[in-house]
Amino acid sequence: MGRIRAIMKRCLPQSVIQLLKRSQLRFRLNDHDWYEDKERFEFLRKALITLKFNGIDGDYAEFGCYGANTFRMVYRILSKYSYDVGPFHLWAFDSFEGLPGTSDAKDEHPEWVKGRMTISLKLFNELCRASGIPGNAYTAVPGLYDQSLAPAASGPRPEKIRLAYVDCDMFTSTSAVLSFLMPRLQHGMILAFDDYYCYSATLPSGERLAVAENFRDNSDWRLVPYVQFGWHGMSFIVEATNEANFAPNR
Ligand SMILES: C[S@@+](CC[C@H](N)C(=O)[O-])C[C@H]1O[C@@H](n2cnc3c(N)ncnc32)[C@H](O)[C@@H]1O
Repeated sequence: MGRIRAIMKRCLPQSVIQLLKRSQLRFRLNDHDWYEDKERFEFLRKALITLKFNGIDGDYAEFGCYGANTFRMVYRILSKYSYDVGPFHLWAFDSFEGLPGTSDAKDEHPEWVKGRMTISLKLFNELCRASGIPGNAYTAVPGLYDQSLAPAASGPRPEKIRLAYVDCDMFTSTSAVLSFLMPRLQHGMILAFDDYYCYSATLPSGERLAVAENFRDNSDWRLVPYVQFGWHGMSFIVEATNEANFAPNR
């Protein structure tokens, strides 16, 4: 694969390579990555249009940001197409130290290894800048979720969210994110879970279990299945079951 890329780089003029790189999807020759990116991009595009069409406003919040791949897609969709989605701030929540350690069996997964997917906040900011995301378009909040998302945590936090993208892999991390999101749920918003179909081979676990535990007996909110993306991700529209939650600007 590397050889084909090298040959193409030699044969194609720089301007074409730049154009390909700037095109809607990243220029890759790896089929697997291409399909995964394409489906995620398509999901995000559909979700943002759905939210706009239905008059759901608020920010974009991503929990688990690593290479800023999803983050950059969201910004690209918003800046490339004239969706006119109104005021829209992006939030990036990450330890910027990779996956945390855990002793909870519900986190069990061969790929969830402490320290994996580490990116520094500096590099994350550089990736955003290289993709044209201005500093005032987003807020990055570093720290482990049990601290950065705790009710007593200091610093600004999003109050109204229209699209939350949960990509932190593990049960405990997703549970912390959902505790943070619960008082911020609004009717019609979309919740996406990048690792919904990633689970332990021996017991119920991961993002799906965290969702089930938080919404199973919830008398205020239910989740309406929305779009599956890739082999791993699933999204839901939040629906109020309690009349009080329909109130505008709650
Ligand atoms: C799969 S990566 C995210 C990929 C990213 N959405 C992208 O598109 O490039 C998972 C991220 O979740 C973060 N993470 C997982 N659990 C966390 C926790 N409890 N607190 C803070 N960050 C966490 C890791 O640091 C890692 O960057």
